[in-house]
Amino acid sequence: MVCHDTTGTYKKFPAGCGHPAYEEKKMGKKVFIPVDLRNVARHVGRTSRKTCGTCHFYGGGGDGVKHGDLDSSLLTADKNLDVHMDAGGLNFGCTRCHTTMAHRIAGRFYSSPSTDRYRLALPDDDGSRIACESCHSRRPHRTNRKLNDHTDRIACETCHIPALARVNPTKMWWDWSKAGRFDENGRMIVKKDDKGRIIYHTKKGEMRWATNVMPEYEWFNGVITHVLLSDRIDDSRPVRLTQIHGSCSDPASRIYPFKKFRGKQPYDPVNKTMVVPRLFGKKGTGAYWAEFDWLKSVKAGMDAAGAPFSGKVGFVETEYLRPVAHMVAPGKDALSCDECHVEKGRLEKLRGFYMPGRDRNRVLDTTGWAVVGIALMGILIHGLMRIITRSEGRRRK
Ligand code: HEC
Ligand code: HEC
Ligand code: HEC
Ligand code: HEC
Ligand code: HEC
Repeated sequence: MVCHDTTGTYKKFPAGCGHPAYEEKKMGKKVFIPVDLRNVARHVGRTSRKTCGTCHFYGGGGDGVKHGDLDSSLLTADKNLDVHMDAGGLNFGCTRCHTTMAHRIAGRFYSSPSTDRYRLALPDDDGSRIACESCHSRRPHRTNRKLNDHTDRIACETCHIPALARVNPTKMWWDWSKAGRFDENGRMIVKKDDKGRIIYHTKKGEMRWATNVMPEYEWFNGVITHVLLSDRIDDSRPVRLTQIHGSCSDPASRIYPFKKFRGKQPYDPVNKTMVVPRLFGKKGTGAYWAEFDWLKSVKAGMDAAGAPFSGKVGFVETEYLRPVAHMVAPGKDALSCDECHVEKGRLEKLRGFYMPGRDRNRVLDTTGWAVVGIALMGILIHGLMRIITRSEGRRRK
């Protein structure tokens, strides 16, 4: 129903494990009236940006928290924000690209490689249309053909999504170690910025938001692995919770854009593992949002997960990379040559391959110019000799 409701009344109850309110319920000051399931069932229809967005725009606990390229601004997107979901233009729904076959939604980064498998959907037009290439082919540029030489090593998204969160801000930093502060009257503290985004909450800690975020770039072959509860971490530097696989020597890899979400999270400094805290629940369950005690909360979470816990809690800085595929800007806003082919360009951090304009080899450059110099001298001497011998020849006549 959440996918097919067209009445806009189907809502889950926040603490209902996905269920809506079946009778009137309260959550804080908000009242949830029971959903008229019969009415919703009589008004099922096609999915839309709105129905898919009910979940995907609010991942991580709010609008634009998890993704920098999927938020509620896409409901009323113009062409500058997203050429495909432009409400006054192409007006694509999500399933125009995420084609479905028996409810299996195309496009899983975790299991499908980012390159090679995709080809133009035409002429058979029965496969998935998830890749840019499915509709545009691998050689989509008509006027500037040099760009087509790049599509084997650079994902379309890299050049066509110049910045994330171009309308609504996205959360970039989430520091859980700052949670648990109360004001002098023992009340919870909630601070918002001028756009109404929460920047401090006693339950969740400190956060930072940003708009027009430049993505991070990585070689990526479509495989992402995650740090698991059983994995030992190195707590001397920020822990990369997602590992992006691929390299420039791997022909299946291309350079892709990512949102890098950073923060501080509780971990076990003795066993050197990440931990699962219990957040939600009543007093006495160890829930952090009731007792504000990390030790109790992590103990309760780790017990529930059946994972070993040393009894000590620390905080470690973490990084989480998320691939980006939406908010494709118009062609005129795509990256220009000199955003990459310069010394301090966007691909500054990626090394191990040669990029004209950025990389140079001093010995090769010196040798090259020396050869040019010698050749020039040769030409000059040769020319001079010709002039001299010519005039001598004339004299002899
Ligand atoms: C123009 C085509 C297009 C449209 C329209 C589109 N997507 Fe995507 N989406 C992609 C591509 C391409 C990817 C990445 C490729 C893959 O998953 O294999 C992607 C990836 C995703 C992911 C995975 C992201 C991640 O970080 O793992 C989600 C979730 C998603 N899309 C949801 C949506 C929703 C919701 C909508 C509608 C509001 C939507 N998409 C509209 C093309 C599109
Ligand atoms: C009830 C909430 C909900 C709705 C509605 C929903 N999704 Fe999802 N979707 C999820 C969750 C949760 C996941 C992650 C599942 C997993 O990791 O196995 C997911 C995963 C995905 C993925 C794969 C993401 C990845 O990183 O591999 C895509 C693509 C996607 N959804 C697209 C859509 C589209 C298109 C729609 C609308 C037709 C939609 N979803 C509606 C909750 C939802
Ligand atoms: C379901 C088919 C489909 C998919 C998948 C798709 N596009 Fe498009 N795209 C279109 C159509 C249709 C147009 C409008 C016709 C045109 O301008 O060629 C368009 C237009 C564009 C434009 C030109 C906008 C302008 O300046 O007028 C760009 C750039 C673009 N797409 C990039 C992408 C990228 C990058 C992806 C992958 C994330 C992608 N497309 C995926 C169908 C698709
Ligand atoms: C190296 C950067 C780069 C890559 C990679 C790239 N593009 Fe482009 N693309 C551009 C630029 C720049 C323009 C604007 C061209 C112009 O104005 O001459 C453009 C224009 C377009 C257009 C508008 C039509 C046109 O001929 O101007 C479409 C559609 C498009 N790109 C789709 C794609 C798709 C699909 C991919 C992946 C297969 C892709 N692009 C890969 C930089 C790139
Ligand atoms: C997103 C960054 C990016 C942009 C934008 C970009 N390039 Fe490149 N370019 C690269 C990378 C990376 C390589 C090396 C690829 C490889 O090793 O195959 C490269 C290679 C090249 C090469 C040498 C290999 C070849 O294909 O001949 C030339 C020439 C070149 N680019 C010209 C251009 C021009 C002209 C533009 C603008 C129209 C442009 N590039 C835009 C990243 C970029």
